[in-house]
Amino acid sequence: MILTMENFMDKNEMYAHLDSACAAVIDRRDDVISSLANASALIKMYLADTNWVGFYLYKEEKLMLGPFQGAPAVTNIKMGKGVCGSAAENLKTMRIGDVKTCDNYIACDDSSASEIVIPLVKKGRLIGVLDIDSPVPERFDAEDEKGLEKIAASLVRLIYM
Ligand code: SME
Repeated sequence: MILTMENFMDKNEMYAHLDSACAAVIDRRDDVISSLANASALIKMYLADTNWVGFYLYKEEKLMLGPFQGAPAVTNIKMGKGVCGSAAENLKTMRIGDVKTCDNYIACDDSSASEIVIPLVKKGRLIGVLDIDSPVPERFDAEDEKGLEKIAASLVRLIYM
């Protein structure tokens, strides 16, 4: 199932609904991989025009592929490398409207045109990143950034780590 914006008044309402869905599905006592697997499925369901939604987890000073929905992807990303590594290193959301113009971009799926990466930070410590790709250029705007940063903050609270 993919929900479209017609299901909601605006993006604000859509992200609030997604946030409630994550809280309903994710149980603090579950393993982190199980929780993030369900989170990636939910985000993919709510966000139209996305071809990859998933997590990279910070382990041994690099990002390792975690639960995701989409095509097979690169398994290890060094800090500072790619959009994911930059977001992780700077602890800052990266929003790329056109991946073709981004020098520091690691291509995984040829159909990706735009991308947003949000760092997951718990008590000041990097846990990983949430990475979302779209086949539509400029798919993610400032409202998506704000909405997804809230989702990322909720996930960090909800997961057992
Ligand atoms: N494009 C990412 C790599 C991961 S894939 O998009 C799933 C990057 O540049 O870090």
